[in-house]
Amino acid sequence: MEPAAATEFELERLRAQVAALSKDAVLAQLAAGVIHEINTPIASIFSNIDVMERSLEAIEAQLGAGGPPKALALLKMMRNLVQVDRMACQRISGVIRGLKLHARGEEEGLCPAHLNQLVEDSILLVGSEYKRRIAFITDLGDLPPVECNPQLIGQALLNLLVNAAQAIEAEGQVTVRTAVEGDQVLISIADTGTGMTDEVKQKIFHTAFSTKALGVGTGLGLPLTYRIITEQHRGTITFTSELGRGTTFEIRIPITTKEP
Ligand SMILES: Nc1ncnc2c1ncn2[C@@H]1O[C@H](COP(=O)(O)OP(=O)(O)O)[C@@H](O)[C@H]1O
Ligand SMILES: [Mg+2]
Repeated sequence: MEPAAATEFELERLRAQVAALSKDAVLAQLAAGVIHEINTPIASIFSNIDVMERSLEAIEAQLGAGGPPKALALLKMMRNLVQVDRMACQRISGVIRGLKLHARGEEEGLCPAHLNQLVEDSILLVGSEYKRRIAFITDLGDLPPVECNPQLIGQALLNLLVNAAQAIEAEGQVTVRTAVEGDQVLISIADTGTGMTDEVKQKIFHTAFSTKALGVGTGLGLPLTYRIITEQHRGTITFTSELGRGTTFEIRIPITTKEP
């Protein structure tokens, strides 16, 4: 390569790096503000949900099994809604925690957790929105408890599941598989969605890269997931994707992070 061309190329690369860095800094600042603004109301919703749940139980006890059927049915529905609200709040909290991590690179504690349970919870959460057109299939292996941060792994799974579901235009399948592979566990999430072009494949882990409409995509999901898996859990995340056929993401995380 000509020296002049090499310099121009270098400059271009540096410019791109500076642009990415300042984008990161602005995002970090934004995130810190949003985290603060959202955490307080979320805490109050959580505590209201607890009170609501206990109150509904108390009313149900007062009415007893012989209470008016319409009232009992309404109570049952309300209790279900309260549970869905709690899960929704947990999801918001998870996103906030993820943002916090993104903003400050915070380390959080690891503990042994059941990944299959996390997978099932995440599918429950995403499934309720998509179950009419997408079949969620699981093939869960026998896993030992895995040393991880369950909230963060849950967040990563949600990101991948939502992406999988959003990639499917009409009807399709999302298959989640777990297995032990040596001293790691594998979680794979395969969708029968649109797949990605080569250009998209290059950029999916870039902060704020999204091919989705404004309001649908933020482009933060995969960069966050990448950090959660590689930095917080010393794992790996890889993918294969074929246009028109679908995409498979594979996460591998060590069963224990302790040095031998
Ligand atoms: N399962 C998938 N199938 C097809 N494209 C995907 C998939 N997952 C991610 N992508 C692509 O990667 C981009 C970035 O994903 P992400 O970081 O989660 O941001 P967002 O979902 O907010 O757009 C998406 O906009 C999409 O183009
Ligand atoms: Mg996403």
